[in-house]
Amino acid sequence: MRCVRLASEIDLEGWRAAARGLLAEGSPPSNTCFLTRAAPGGLFEDEAPPSPVPPGSSLSVPRAFLDLAQQVALHRSEDRFDLLYRLLWRLQRERTLLHIVSDRDVADAMERAKNVSRAAHKMKAFVRFRRIEEAGGERWIAWFEPAHRVLERTAPFFQRRFTTMRWTILTPDGTADWDGEHLTFGPPATKDQAPEGDDVEDFWKTYYASTFNPARLKTKMMQSEMPRRYWANLPEASLIPGMIREAEARLGTMVATPASPANARLMRAIAPVVVRPEPVSAPDSLAALNGAAQGCRRCPLWRDATQAVCGKGPREAPLMIVGEQPGDQEDLAGEPFVGPAGQVLDTALAEADLDRTAAWVTNAVKHFKHEPRGRRRLHRTPDAGEVEACRWWLDAERALVKPRLIVTLGATAALGVLGRKIAVTKERGRPVQLDDGTPVLPTVHPSYLLRLPDAATREVERARFVEDLKAAKALVETV
Ligand code: URA
Repeated sequence: MRCVRLASEIDLEGWRAAARGLLAEGSPPSNTCFLTRAAPGGLFEDEAPPSPVPPGSSLSVPRAFLDLAQQVALHRSEDRFDLLYRLLWRLQRERTLLHIVSDRDVADAMERAKNVSRAAHKMKAFVRFRRIEEAGGERWIAWFEPAHRVLERTAPFFQRRFTTMRWTILTPDGTADWDGEHLTFGPPATKDQAPEGDDVEDFWKTYYASTFNPARLKTKMMQSEMPRRYWANLPEASLIPGMIREAEARLGTMVATPASPANARLMRAIAPVVVRPEPVSAPDSLAALNGAAQGCRRCPLWRDATQAVCGKGPREAPLMIVGEQPGDQEDLAGEPFVGPAGQVLDTALAEADLDRTAAWVTNAVKHFKHEPRGRRRLHRTPDAGEVEACRWWLDAERALVKPRLIVTLGATAALGVLGRKIAVTKERGRPVQLDDGTPVLPTVHPSYLLRLPDAATREVERARFVEDLKAAKALVETV
């Protein structure tokens, strides 16, 4: 058996390097295994590192596999890296393997990726900080036991959300620490290192009790949203059994009692506390811009959004692609176009032979505008005032990236970039110039394609979208 030992439980980089070497050696998955530092080695295992990859040999891997691997690597299953190697090996011969969702390995990897993604969402929702006073002032500490190894992946979310606080998240996998300037990761912790309850904990309990609606009690759904495995560390969870027991009695009282106004002090106390002064002049780096946008109060959309989602891509990308606003998944992930519209965009870009990772992908509006509908958050189109308010950020991004061409997706993006409304279906595919000479190529939004009910029309419109992107490729190569 050919085995490679990785540097940590989540050492995807180490796995990638080793996997390349093992592929070059021709080591089949049935004879290959990956161990992590903690795992004991077997008696007959050959633990030598793989031979170096011969110069000039290239390995092409679909981007979708890299995205999948990033998730699967964080799964707690012992054979996660073996599964990834098996997929990688098969992908060399079966190029479209990842499209076959009924394939056992593909389905298995997707299921694990889903579990990891769910664990990350739960971590964002269920980390509860407790306040301690120490020499340097106040610090917030949380103990959390994630279902999978999502600490490193989720910590930047807390950094953005609680930028002005000093906080530490302790987990059995490691610790994340934010001192107001630097995010660092340390060794695993134990629960007894976390402080006991404080007055904030009482706020959580009061808040939860006051938002609990006995008329809407659905025990199964509640447990799927707040799985039992997290209860031990949630102050409010201790209330749940009692509240379920009392629900019926409370329902009767509720029906008979007139509505009372929300407790304003309590609502203020539990509202997100991070308010950063906005910069007066445009930020001088994309990282500074992203940080500053988290404090944006130029319009009310920040209130209901998880975070401001700025663009992603290389600095000085020749092509800038502008969408409307982050959707539900982008709002949680903090990255543009990672949800269903992003998948349509990715496929069309690939068909047009445009490399998404070489483009700056962003949105006209940085916060997710939505309205709650049951458990879902339904997209609402930003109005002209909100687009205008957010132009400041888009202009700042443009000034830093200095794209040679801008592609706008849909009417809101065109409004944000051009500053005027256009009829996208009439003006699509024809470049117009901004005052500074930058060409702008408008086209439709990928969600428009997703909404078309008829498959034949959808295919025609998709082909037109790809044609527009091909025009963008030709243009960006000539300007
Ligand atoms: N739609 C957009 O316009 N932008 C995103 O980032 C996602 C969906």
